[in-house]
Amino acid sequence: MAERFSWLESLLRPASLPASPEDFFARLPVIDTPRLTLRRMRMQDAPDIYAYSKDPEVARHVLWDAHASIWDSRAYLRFILRQYRSGQPSSWGIEEKGTGRLIGTIGYMWYSGENSTVELGYSLARDRWNQGYMTEALQAVLQETFEVLHINRAEAQHFTDNPASGRVMLKCGMTLEGTLRQRIFHRGQFRDVSLWAITRADWEKQHRST
Ligand SMILES: CC(C)(COP(=O)(O)OP(=O)(O)OC[C@H]1O[C@@H](n2cnc3c(N)ncnc32)[C@H](O)[C@@H]1OP(=O)(O)O)[C@@H](O)C(=O)NCCC(=O)NCCS
Repeated sequence: MAERFSWLESLLRPASLPASPEDFFARLPVIDTPRLTLRRMRMQDAPDIYAYSKDPEVARHVLWDAHASIWDSRAYLRFILRQYRSGQPSSWGIEEKGTGRLIGTIGYMWYSGENSTVELGYSLARDRWNQGYMTEALQAVLQETFEVLHINRAEAQHFTDNPASGRVMLKCGMTLEGTLRQRIFHRGQFRDVSLWAITRADWEKQHRST
């Protein structure tokens, strides 16, 4: 990654490309899809985030606990805004175009410049499940990740008893690489995790124009 963002490249780079990964994470470009706008979150999103994050079903298969009050949503947003400010990996808010409502988040759990790899994660309001929204969002984020952030590998994982999330990854061209047994200690038990990934070579093969 260090090589990709060399000073020479910075001279030759089109204005639309980020100067560095930190610049990308700080700006987190708006992504437009047919039904969604992926955008930086703001404090005013707290009520929408609380509305779905208080749902135990949404929090069942994620590492964060269901929000107990809007103060949890505000604390989450403060964390995200700090990540934007410091150019660290974070998430987009998923805004539904039809309603203007923030219905979920998608973004980077971590970024390794040395290995040119990111891990992606996401969650969505329960009343919007099974309408293809997260597939639409993940496809768009993968495109941004390979073509603008320019990494070599994107990973994602889900608990094995959350097959809907694996289905989203499959539909977006990711490959199931294996099961990590008892990988995460979560709410009192060791849970198995499915690890998925897509490499730059996979991405280019899938998107090569004929
Ligand atoms: C997982 C999640 C993001 C999926 O988002 P979504 O917008 O509903 O996903 P999509 O509609 O794009 O695709 C879901 C797919 O899973 C399938 N599915 C749903 N429930 C399923 C189940 N129990 N078993 C197998 N497949 C299932 C759907 O049929 C659909 O596949 P299809 O299009 O082939 O019919 C959403 O359910 C969610 O936010 N859950 C709570 C948080 C979470 O689990 N986040 C992921 C942590 S790894």
